[in-house]
Order: sequence, then structure tokens, then C-alpha cells
Amino acid sequence: MDKIVISGGHVLQGEVQVSGAKNSALPILASTILGGGECVISNIPRVVDVVTMGKLLGILGADVHHEGNRAVIKADVIRSTQAPYELVKTMRASVLVLGPLVARWGEAVVSLPGGCAIGSRPVNLHLAGLAKLGAEVSIEHGYIRAKAKRLKGAPIYCDVPTVTGTENLMMAASLAQGTTVIENAAKEPEIVDLANFLVKRGARIAGAGTDVITIEGVRELRGSDHEVIPDRIEAGTYVVAGAITKGSISVNRCRPEHLEPLLNKLGEAGVSIRVEKERVHIDASKRGRLKGVDVRTLPFPGFPTDMQAQMVALMSVAEGTSIITETVFESRFMHVEELRRMGADIRVEGNRVVITGHERLAGAPVMASDLRASAGLILAGLAAEGTTDVLRVYHLDRGYERIEEKLRALGAVIDRQKG
Ligand code: UD1
Repeated sequence: MDKIVISGGHVLQGEVQVSGAKNSALPILASTILGGGECVISNIPRVVDVVTMGKLLGILGADVHHEGNRAVIKADVIRSTQAPYELVKTMRASVLVLGPLVARWGEAVVSLPGGCAIGSRPVNLHLAGLAKLGAEVSIEHGYIRAKAKRLKGAPIYCDVPTVTGTENLMMAASLAQGTTVIENAAKEPEIVDLANFLVKRGARIAGAGTDVITIEGVRELRGSDHEVIPDRIEAGTYVVAGAITKGSISVNRCRPEHLEPLLNKLGEAGVSIRVEKERVHIDASKRGRLKGVDVRTLPFPGFPTDMQAQMVALMSVAEGTSIITETVFESRFMHVEELRRMGADIRVEGNRVVITGHERLAGAPVMASDLRASAGLILAGLAAEGTTDVLRVYHLDRGYERIEEKLRALGAVIDRQKG
């Protein structure tokens, strides 16, 4: 298995370009099967999850052509309405084909995603929402089965704001008969991106990006072009890479407004930040250690849970004590044990960690447990003295495009060893 080897202690400087958002590309790709005609999606990150989604669409019968960061997809007919366990187990976001399949093809059989490294991740709200829209939903032999002649618009209230749940229901409701109102919807930028794409295809959606989304169902959707928004989590990861190495870097082609919760905390910690239209410049070179700050993860526009591991790494070398509370997922602290192996002083107390910052971490072999935990360990490795080997990098490859190359261009000493 491949591993990433980092020789830490190098100050990062220069510019880095952000790729398209994985979490936007996945629902947008899944939504292509909602209608016929040609869809040309650009700025797609070349990461393993996107390849998996392409495979899944191919299994369902869509015509998928990837060329670099662009995909051309046609789904005039569907051969199968089944998303098999083999694919869903490698990527939970496969569940995003559930809504489109049942809305357009009247049936969906999608493997029920299992537990994962960040805790139990139910899809009950996806299923309850589809049932509200009139689908007959059952679980049989580990598969979700949903059936409906034509979905009917309805009011849907989500107990908790769920990102992929909101996306699934918004896609399904686009083809339902009548009006659907999703209350307590998730407000993430990726939901707005998906809604913009669907609207270009003829859907009638209002309120995406707020907690009430109204969808007037239409008979059919047409093909369209779309450019995926920049990845705010990838951008945030590079921002923290600059901060943790006391560097000075520009993160280009990003949407600074999507990074506000992170930039706000980094400003509080002492990082100088300059924001331009599509660019963020951060400078942590002109002062001593950053100050420890407290963080609480929340749904957007709160601090993203997908930046929590990176923030734990940063606070491990900050001055003083910081408390990071995880409120979105139940057990998302698998990276903590690994960071401790690098000398970090972190205590887990239920859903929060108490971090006493130390000036230096020490390089060590560490094991990645999930996508964002991998990013946290790489950041720690960049700041540590000596060599850090990050094992199980297949997690990282699910969501970061050419991360070693991008970090190397900023002055990091980082390599991939094929295993
Ligand atoms: C998405 C993102 C993931 C991010 C997460 C939270 C994608 C492909 N993935 O995941 O990177 O970490 O949002 O920002 O976009 N929940 C329920 N019942 C449900 C659905 C969710 O109780 O039916 C709970 C979850 O257990 C969790 C919370 O809702 O506690 C939020 O999860 P959700 O927004 O659904 O996460 P995902 O969409 O899976």
C-alpha cells in the first residue's frame, strides 16, 4: 500500500490552485441521471470518489466520458436501478443516486451504507423524506428499496440538517408532481451549486442556501453545462498548511466567502489574512507561535466538521490551551491517537478535545483512518521535526487532487512511496 513520507520543518511559501469541490461534483454527477440530453461538467477534481461515482453511473447505464477535469454524461436510458454493495461500501455518497433513480425511473435499489470511521451515519432522513414524497420504502437484505409511479410534492421537515439528505430530496422533488418544501434544509454551498445546475436543466428551485428550499416539480430535465465550485475544504487545508509551517501562501481560485468560519478562527489565532475576489493570502511568518483558540463544529455557515482534524493538528503546536468540540459526527477523533504518537498533548472528553499546544511535534509513522484525518496527519507532519510516514493514504486519494504535488510546489518535502 502507498504511503506519504514527509520531512517536516519546511516553511511553505508561494501559491496554490484549488481544485473543484468533491462534495459538489458527487451530487452533480449523480443528478445527471435525472434527465436526458448531454451534461458537460467541468472543474471536476480527479479523485477516487469521483471515479467511483463515474463507475456507478456507468453500471446504471449512463454514458460517461471523463477527459481531464471534465465529464460528458448522457443518461437517455437507464439499464439498471441498482447501486451494488461493492461500490457503496467504498463510498457512502453513492446513496445520492437514490433520489434521482426513484424520481425518474420509478425504482431504486441501493445498498444501505454501513457504519464508518467517523461514527454511525444513518440515512433515515433520506428515506423518511422519500416516503413523504410518496415512495414505498423498505430495507431488504441490506438494500434500500424505493418505488413510486410518480413522486408527489409534499412538505418535509428534517430533524437535523443533512447535506446529502437535502441533496437527495431536492433532486427527487425536482421531478415530483406539485410543490415540495424542505424545512431545516442544510445550507452548504455545495447544495447551492447542485441547485444552480438543476435550475439550468429546467428545475424550479428557490431558497437553496437557506433552511427552507421550495421545489416546484417539472415533467423532465434537459442537458446542460456546469462548472463545479472550488473545494472549500481543500482550500482550507492549504490555508492551515501555510499557518502550521509559519509560512506565507496564496490560495488561488477559491471562494473566500465559503472559508469565512475558518479564516475567522485563524485570525483570532493570530494569522494575518488578506482576502481578494477569488484568492486568500495568509501570513503566519511574522509572529511567534499562534494562539490557541476554541472551535465548535457546526453545519454551514458554522465551522466545518471536515476541517476539524486539520484544526486539531494546528492547535497542537499553538500556544496555550484550546478546546475543539465536534457536534456534527459522534466519533470523529480517530486522528487524536495518531497525533499523540507525534508528541501532541490532547485529551479526549466525550465530544470534545482539550489540546495543550507544544512548540514542536516529532515525526512518526502514523495511520490515516478517514479522509480528513489523513489531511490532519499530513499537516502535523509538515510541522514536525524529522520524518512522518502517513500510512493508508487511499483515504486521502478519495478527496484530494495531487496533494503531494501541490504541497511540494509550496516548498514541502513530501513524497509518495508506492507499496
Ligand atoms: C456530508 C459531506 C461530508 C461532511 C458532512 C457534514 C458529502 C458527500 N459529504 O456528508 O464530507 O462531513 O456532510 O458536513 O457531501 N444524519 C441523520 N440522519 C440522516 C442523515 C444524517 O441523523 O438521514 C446526521 C448524521 O449522522 C450527522 C448529521 O446528520 O450527525 C450530518 O450529516 P450529513 O450532513 O448527512 O452528512 P453527509 O451528507 O453524509
